[in-house]
Amino acid sequence: MIIEERGEFLADADATLLAGARLARGLRGGMIVTLSGELGAGKTTLVRGMLRGLGWGGAVKSPSYVLLEHYQISSIYFYHFDFYRFEDAAEWETTGLADYFRPDAVCAIEWPERVAALLPVIDLSLRLRSAEPGRQLHVRASTLAGNACLEKFAATSA
Ligand SMILES: Nc1ncnc2c1ncn2[C@@H]1O[C@H](COP(=O)(O)OP(=O)(O)O)[C@@H](O)[C@H]1O
Ligand SMILES: [Mg+2]
Repeated sequence: MIIEERGEFLADADATLLAGARLARGLRGGMIVTLSGELGAGKTTLVRGMLRGLGWGGAVKSPSYVLLEHYQISSIYFYHFDFYRFEDAAEWETTGLADYFRPDAVCAIEWPERVAALLPVIDLSLRLRSAEPGRQLHVRASTLAGNACLEKFAATSA
């Protein structure tokens, strides 16, 4: 069965970390994952869960000031972008955002709306919104790789 969308309630930050780790099981090189939602919605926490799930044991900092934090986990590169403070999309057109979209790299992008014109096909679109005291997560898959990831995610629900 192909699953295209799924919603889940995340009761606390640990549930967000766990959701990230469940999504990580289906992450493969070449995938592009976007994370939308207001400041404080839990986007960075979800990425931290993905990295932990992939086996990253070190710190996971928010890239909100530096635009990009990068990780290497065995043969996979993981690029974590945050475009909240990003104003000039043309700047990246010349500095080469596209250089990061490679078959051996997973790209996780916060505030993708800021660079929409520069993005290729998105495999998984994640949206978080506050549902006090927790968060509501919505996952949409748009490619075969995204569907496979979402199926693994759904198969491991609590
Ligand atoms: N499901 C959740 N329920 C309650 N708090 C959460 C949840 N997920 C994350 N948080 C908390 O929300 C705050 C903001 O998270 P963060 O990941 O930095 O958000 P963003 O990257 O979207 O700005 C953190 O204190 C985090 O622990
Ligand atoms: Mg963030």
